[in-house]
Amino acid sequence: MASIAAEALAARIKAAHHIVVLTGAGVSAESGVPTFRDRQTGLWAKYRPEDLATPEAFRRDPETVWRWYEWRRSILEEIKPNPGHFAIAELEALPREFALITQNVDGLHAVAGSRNIIELHGNIGRTICSVERCVVSSWTLAGSAPPKCPNCGAHLRPDVVWFGESLPERPFIEAQDHADRCDLFLSVGTSTVVQPAASLPFMAKRSGAFVVEINVDLTPLSHVADLVVREKSGFFLPSVLELLK
Ligand code: OAD
Repeated sequence: MASIAAEALAARIKAAHHIVVLTGAGVSAESGVPTFRDRQTGLWAKYRPEDLATPEAFRRDPETVWRWYEWRRSILEEIKPNPGHFAIAELEALPREFALITQNVDGLHAVAGSRNIIELHGNIGRTICSVERCVVSSWTLAGSAPPKCPNCGAHLRPDVVWFGESLPERPFIEAQDHADRCDLFLSVGTSTVVQPAASLPFMAKRSGAFVVEINVDLTPLSHVADLVVREKSGFFLPSVLELLK
């Protein structure tokens, strides 16, 4: 039987004209991708972001940073989207204006069938030149990692946003525009602490949207959201989609 929260959200979705979904690492947790801030299993419980996810760390020790991302990419090779990703892809198919904004770099939304994805923190599957920023799809590794750009010889790096770097400009402007105009905003599986992505649900709320948080834990958004659902997204979202059929 559907929960009261699932029924409430299904009713909101039916009435909405413009739906925005913001996702974070929690939406991929049920696929087996480690989150960042979970106390036991989160990546930042085991590694220091300043050693692995900053431009300074890459300048200091490019090999360690490259190898860490290689390890994270290797985890993803085995991993598949979960029912939460598929439910979000189904939402996009409804006849309404829709935007999916993600902080995730794992590419699982696309595998699940989502089409228009605003990737705020890049994509771990893409590699760019650390100087020219062009996307490089093949290279040969001669000597130590990271490999070198075939055009200019600079180190290659993952196309992700590191701490201290700006978000890609156009995607963030697009995300802000959707947050400002939508009437229903779902924040799914994000700790809502990393700026500027964390500002989006608050912006939507200020602009009059109904804001829903789906998260197993408390976040800074919890006391502001209109509906808070303390369930796993891979369990809760499919139950909502069932009610829309
Ligand atoms: P976090 O690890 O900070 O937060 C994940 C959130 O998902 C937490 O609030 C968990 O309680 C929640 N969660 C875990 N499992 C869940 C499930 N099955 N269903 C629903 N919620 C669940 O990850 P993000 O918020 O994505 O940035 O982190 C934001 C950014 O910080 C990342 O993009 C990354 C990181 O440092 C960069 O690397 C730039």
